[in-house]
Amino acid sequence: MGILQDKVILVAGLANEKSLAWGTSQSIVREGGQLVISCQEALLGRVEPLAAKAGDAPVFVCNVNSDEEIAKMADGIRERFGRLDGIVHSIAFAPREALKKPFVETTREEFQIALETSAHSLNALVAGLLPLMENGGSVVTFTFDTYHAYPNYNVMGVAKAALEAEVRYLAFNLGERKIRVNAVSAGPPNTLAARGISGFSSMKQDSVERAPLGWDPDDTGPVGDATAYLLSDLSRAVTGTVHYVDGGTHISGV
Ligand SMILES: NC(=O)c1ccc[n+]([C@@H]2O[C@H](COP(=O)([O-])OP(=O)(O)OC[C@H]3O[C@@H](n4cnc5c(N)ncnc54)[C@H](O)[C@@H]3O)[C@@H](O)[C@H]2O)c1
Repeated sequence: MGILQDKVILVAGLANEKSLAWGTSQSIVREGGQLVISCQEALLGRVEPLAAKAGDAPVFVCNVNSDEEIAKMADGIRERFGRLDGIVHSIAFAPREALKKPFVETTREEFQIALETSAHSLNALVAGLLPLMENGGSVVTFTFDTYHAYPNYNVMGVAKAALEAEVRYLAFNLGERKIRVNAVSAGPPNTLAARGISGFSSMKQDSVERAPLGWDPDDTGPVGDATAYLLSDLSRAVTGTVHYVDGGTHISGV
């Protein structure tokens, strides 16, 4: 028996086999969870074959900036499973231009797009799926070091700071419903989202060199396994936290 036996868990934000969402999906299936996947419409062709390899997980199309699409997905999950025990929010976006110029030049529109898609979407997704979590549950989102400023991470760093604050407010609000909310602060992976950041390879190299445990940007397994723990009853008294899964880079002074 795995630690997620009989739990129905949505992973929102699968793009391809390099995604943190894919490493997480594999951990969920290995631990006995019933996986449900959501993705953007344009990615269906890539995601459906992956879902077939992950216990034939059902796939829903969901743009998290649309309350209608979130509601439609909630109906679909209710129809199929009647409930949800976990949500993994693995979603971020900022206009490419905003990730390669000085932060001070960020426009209102770029700020709004980045914050809506990368931070508010957690709140929107949880609010829309809350009626399916009457028995409590666990929500996990993915963040990246919000303490330091990095070249070109820019408005995404600001969005991640908002996301981490949201984790605390959601955890505060939803504790009485026995719903836990946590973030995993991941070391940099070789994903599509990462490649959208100019100079990402030097950020990645820095993490590899500073991590006391070392860090493999091609291995999403450590993030997936830590997320599985946060989705499981083993973390039943853990909420509102940011859990670092970065090989220890965040504590390294060199
Ligand atoms: N790449 C990094 O260095 C890094 C480090 C730590 C945390 N993270 C975070 O991990 C999460 C997953 O990113 P990833 O690195 O696996 O890359 P990824 O490109 O595989 O995943 C990002 C996902 O966001 C989805 N998305 C964007 N806009 C959306 C919208 N409007 N509606 C629905 N989905 C939308 C994309 O379709 C994609 O599947 C993100 O929150 C990212 O910021 C990434």
